[in-house]
Amino acid sequence: MAPPPVRRHRSDSPPKLPAPSLILAGRALLGGRLQPVEIAIGEDGRIASIGRIRTGAPRHDVGDAVILPAATDLHVHLRDPGGSPDVENFSTGTIAAALGGTTLVGEMPNTSPPVTDPDRMAEKAARAHGRAAVDVLLYADPVGATDLGPLARAAGGFKVYLSPTSGIDRVPRPSELPPLWRRMLAYDLPISVHAEDPARFDPRAIPSDPTGWNEWRPPAAEEAAIAMVASAPTGLRLHVAHVTTARSVARVRELGWSCEVTPHHLLLSDGSGTDARFKVNPPLRSEEERRALWEAYRSGRVPVVASDHAPHALADKSLPFEQAPSGVPGAETMLPLLLSRARSGELDLGVLVATACDRPARWFGQPLGRVAVGHRANLLVVDFRSRTALSGRHLHSACGWTPFEGWEAIFPREHYRDGVRIVEDGEYVGQPTGRILRPEYAPGPDRAA
Ligand code: NCD
Ligand code: ZN
Ligand code: ZN
Repeated sequence: MAPPPVRRHRSDSPPKLPAPSLILAGRALLGGRLQPVEIAIGEDGRIASIGRIRTGAPRHDVGDAVILPAATDLHVHLRDPGGSPDVENFSTGTIAAALGGTTLVGEMPNTSPPVTDPDRMAEKAARAHGRAAVDVLLYADPVGATDLGPLARAAGGFKVYLSPTSGIDRVPRPSELPPLWRRMLAYDLPISVHAEDPARFDPRAIPSDPTGWNEWRPPAAEEAAIAMVASAPTGLRLHVAHVTTARSVARVRELGWSCEVTPHHLLLSDGSGTDARFKVNPPLRSEEERRALWEAYRSGRVPVVASDHAPHALADKSLPFEQAPSGVPGAETMLPLLLSRARSGELDLGVLVATACDRPARWFGQPLGRVAVGHRANLLVVDFRSRTALSGRHLHSACGWTPFEGWEAIFPREHYRDGVRIVEDGEYVGQPTGRILRPEYAPGPDRAA
């Protein structure tokens, strides 16, 4: 006699998935290999399922192109409020990011006025609302804050400047650091540190070109600042911004923190140009240091790549070197420059996706940066045959120039945000519906660090 039918318990039935609204068919990096795949995107804008063949929704076949997760850039300066809109603003800067394949940017607090209280945070959020093409996480500057609680509850992260840099004159004295770290312990926010120790700047070096700038703010200043932070209590989610030497990377990893390197420190050295377009903090280093940093990055020893997109007017960058501001634009070119390196075989695509997409998204506590079920369908379609030469005039950052003029780049052909196409044939076709995000979860053991 046949056994009685098993009564299915309610929880045995498979969870109801939202109906797919789009199927993307192409090749994706799965298990470390490029494989043919179909990705079903649900009506909720999340990846609903991944497999060989998906059905039930319109299918978009991208042919030989590669489907990649979109990038998260932990470090941009959009100069809004307080800067000239002709240099950058929330609209131009986030459209540039979207075209470069970046779907979430961490926006720094050294705007004018700096973001040191909740009102200024609210003002900045209001300016981003209805203008941002991609999502934005706003950092707060805790150094000048009197009451950290309300600021921390509004912020997505903290940024601590240990040395003066563009827009930052006042930095904490060494004796002010221990109480500052202790105050931040109460909030589980990512903390980005600009690590240069001004006590190590060399007043004898005459900074009239990038080589002089590298001597004036030497690698020893970065190493000394990292040593200053090493006495911070454990439990802080520390991340060192724009690390410039392989030694600093190794030290930061020993300390168990996260860090980022920038495309300009990876690809340019103090001999790449003589004028102030190549003036940046920390400075471009010697060719030897640059090669060692690239090797550390290429071999997977650096957790994150971030642009430190720091646009300045070309007129200001044309001033005599000593007077010109520091910083180079890079939000739109970060991924395209590195995709070109992946095409040429100098960089493993898996390392690029881990450092530009997966780890930075996890550092911000976001379900982004992986082709994985349940993640937001913020995806790129990249045709590795479509190589272009960069030209500042054709980029979308309002500042209109790049230190990578003429460099080969590969721009994404398409960019989907929550399953909606915002870049099509390399043109921005989206709406300014970017949201202000705060970490949704605290990264666990497999966090960026
Ligand atoms: C940045 C800027 O212009 O805001 N400049 C720079 O040289 N990197 C500030 C900074 O990140 O230090
Ligand atoms: Zn900095
Ligand atoms: Zn910066």
